[in-house]
Amino acid sequence: MSSELRAPFVAGNWKMNKTRAEARGYAGDLLARLAALGRDDVEVAICAPFTTLDEMVSASRSSRLMIVAQNMHEADHGAFTGEVAAPMLTELGVDGVVLGHSERRQYFGETDRALALKVPAALAAGLLPILCVGETEDERAAGDTDRKLRQQVKEGLDKLESERLADVVIAYEPIWAIGTGQTAALEQAQEAIAFVRALIADRSRDAAARVRVLYGGSVKASNAAELLALPDVDGALVGGASLDAEEFAAIVAAAPR
Ligand code: PGA
Repeated sequence: MSSELRAPFVAGNWKMNKTRAEARGYAGDLLARLAALGRDDVEVAICAPFTTLDEMVSASRSSRLMIVAQNMHEADHGAFTGEVAAPMLTELGVDGVVLGHSERRQYFGETDRALALKVPAALAAGLLPILCVGETEDERAAGDTDRKLRQQVKEGLDKLESERLADVVIAYEPIWAIGTGQTAALEQAQEAIAFVRALIADRSRDAAARVRVLYGGSVKASNAAELLALPDVDGALVGGASLDAEEFAAIVAAAPR
């Protein structure tokens, strides 16, 4: 679907990497590189560990760089030891939150049912939710990719009113491509992301034209241009390659104009 309505979005997911001191150094480096690029047409975000969020928010204050958390609880407070709530993130000046990353689903029991509550809770708090979906290698081999994506997209967005669908960013990340160096073939990425958009169109054609769907899984400076040029791909969620500011800035530069 034509991408005129959708500004490119490139997010770096640091995962459990970088101390506060490292984050500060990286932020200075990245902001200088982004200023030199002058790509104000691309929205850029860093998804940082909780302990670095305030450092990153203050470092990026006079820039357009968005700072995003990597998880949150659906309740706004309560007896949930070890969890963090949306108002705690907005108080820091955080812009968004990654929800349902495959590592959270796989290692920490994140469920579609919890995500269905987290997505509207994030939006209600004024946070941009980045909802991650994607199939395993076995599911793809069994021809189950569409079924898995349908389930994750439908359930994750189940409690969100149609008027707000386009306010979510969806990241399609085939699990077999995450951190493996193995990128989805261009046709696979385009096909899966067009399918995700079609699932949104089932609820609202207008939202489908406006919702941003990112590709994630071993995106690097060397393959970003061809992935970002795919018609339904509106950006990238970058893991390993975002840990280096020079490489990450090169991925931002690869977004089509
Ligand atoms: P990767 O991770 O780029 O290191 O494959 C992507 C992600 O998990 O978001």
